[in-house]
Amino acid sequence: MNPQNIPERLISTSVLVIGTGGAGLRASIELAQRGVQVLAVGKRRKHDAHTSLAAGGINAPLGTMDPEDSWQQHAADTLRESYFLADPAIVETVARNAARGIEDLEQWGMPFAREEDGRVSQRFFGAHKYRRTAYAGDYTGLEIQRTLMRRAAELQVPIIDTVYITRLLVADGTVFGAFGFDVVDGSPVQIHADAVILAAGGHTRIWRHTSSRRDENTGDSFRLAALAGARIRDAELVQFHPSGLLEPDDAAGTLVSEAARGEGGILTNALGERFMERYDAERMELSTRDRVALAAFTEAAEGRGTEKGGVYLDVSHLPREVIMEKLPRVYRTLIDLQMLDITTTKIEIAPTAHYSMGGVWVAPEDHRTGVNGLYAIGEASSGLHGANRLGGNSLTELLVYGRITGEHVAGYVRSRVHLVRDPAAVAEARSEMHGLLNGVGTESVRPLQRELRNVMTAHAGVVRTEQGLQEGLKRLAALEERARLVTAHPDIAGFDDLAHAYDLLGSLLAARATLECALERRETRGAHNRADFPAPDPSLQGNFVWSPDHGVSFESLPPAPDSFRALAEANVDDSVAGKLVE
Ligand code: FUM
Repeated sequence: MNPQNIPERLISTSVLVIGTGGAGLRASIELAQRGVQVLAVGKRRKHDAHTSLAAGGINAPLGTMDPEDSWQQHAADTLRESYFLADPAIVETVARNAARGIEDLEQWGMPFAREEDGRVSQRFFGAHKYRRTAYAGDYTGLEIQRTLMRRAAELQVPIIDTVYITRLLVADGTVFGAFGFDVVDGSPVQIHADAVILAAGGHTRIWRHTSSRRDENTGDSFRLAALAGARIRDAELVQFHPSGLLEPDDAAGTLVSEAARGEGGILTNALGERFMERYDAERMELSTRDRVALAAFTEAAEGRGTEKGGVYLDVSHLPREVIMEKLPRVYRTLIDLQMLDITTTKIEIAPTAHYSMGGVWVAPEDHRTGVNGLYAIGEASSGLHGANRLGGNSLTELLVYGRITGEHVAGYVRSRVHLVRDPAAVAEARSEMHGLLNGVGTESVRPLQRELRNVMTAHAGVVRTEQGLQEGLKRLAALEERARLVTAHPDIAGFDDLAHAYDLLGSLLAARATLECALERRETRGAHNRADFPAPDPSLQGNFVWSPDHGVSFESLPPAPDSFRALAEANVDDSVAGKLVE
């Protein structure tokens, strides 16, 4: 099967959105509401976008449960927990606009959990000062995706969810569209657009234990942006969520929502000790994600874990009706994957690569990338989470910057006066695809993907060292060589193998960015634990920025504005006594 025989499709639109998860949909909705032509494309079925996996909730300082909450406190919690690596302007924008994000969703019919008097319910998530995580059971992301899909349909936003984008098209530093192919029939697709919004997720699928499913979050955004001339920021800052399943092997890393701890779940080691007492006696299970993940890792590494290298999360002491109402997905996941009933039995868990806190470098005002006409949002972008993301903040971010970026892009495309095109850019993208399809190399993609995941797990996991990272880079170089010999073999079922080949290219680039930045961050900060540099280094309070041509450079950060600096820097009382009682 060869798409050389299938006519190339040519599509034109004002704005192309790559990615049909929450961020891509929210931006598309904003553009459509403003009367701008938009086309959203994605490589997975739109109902099955990664957003639908987001579980425990979305943050906004609504004050429905704790009226003392404020946008300033939300911003302060976010900045402090980022270990001061977040861009304060992005933090402020997200915190100030979070409530608006929730209001939009409510207007479009989002079924948030509510108190008896109708207030939106808000639960605790780790390291928040107040209850500010709104939710729909532990299916919050799924309900948000459904709500956004409904609104996009009302606005008749065209969505093609079978197109894999392989390259952005750039002429003289300005993006003019993208090139790709249809994963069903292989037809090449050229899309002309005056602006492109990249919303194609992160790179956590390059670890063995990950809460991303097969073929999602494979680093596509990093590659598309970097080859177009954009830069990647904080690639080394990857959030390991404390509670991923260990079994079955082909679903290793599947998430057990933090909501389980928020509702009162308890962590124990193989000796039955409630081990968080050793790591954060104040906040215990509601400590920050980086601390809980490191604690679980340490318990296993020091021989107090289970035989399989995990620890236990137990919710069986909670009333059954609480579990069924607030943790229905956790209940069902464990029954489906392990035939284990969490109302009676504890769950074996270990840290799982969960979220790319780094991503494409973006400006705080509008998420432009530095390449004219190219914007990045959602997990593809960077700047909000720094070295430790607050659970629940990513859903907030995708609503806030989906809207704001959509608004700015509408202005940008209306102001354009010249069309740019470059046939050479199209020819390069086309020839890359033909090369993958018509090569004579005998390497297959899946084994290389597996090997890459082994490399990243062994050398760039929860705890890292100079020697391990150097070894990782050596093994990565060998994989990059082998990847040159990959030939894709589409078959009668479709062009998935070609998609996987591009996934691999994205993953290799993302792995290189991660390893090279991790090497330079010679300190321990948040999720980045360097056994050889166990303390934070104040001179590294800034971001590592990477590009294929220029490698790694360091950028310092502006100070937080007065409006929330004092709160962020204050030695606040982080005690959680009594907080589990809603
Ligand atoms: O554990 C969770 O429900 C994850 C939420 C998040 O990462 O925001």
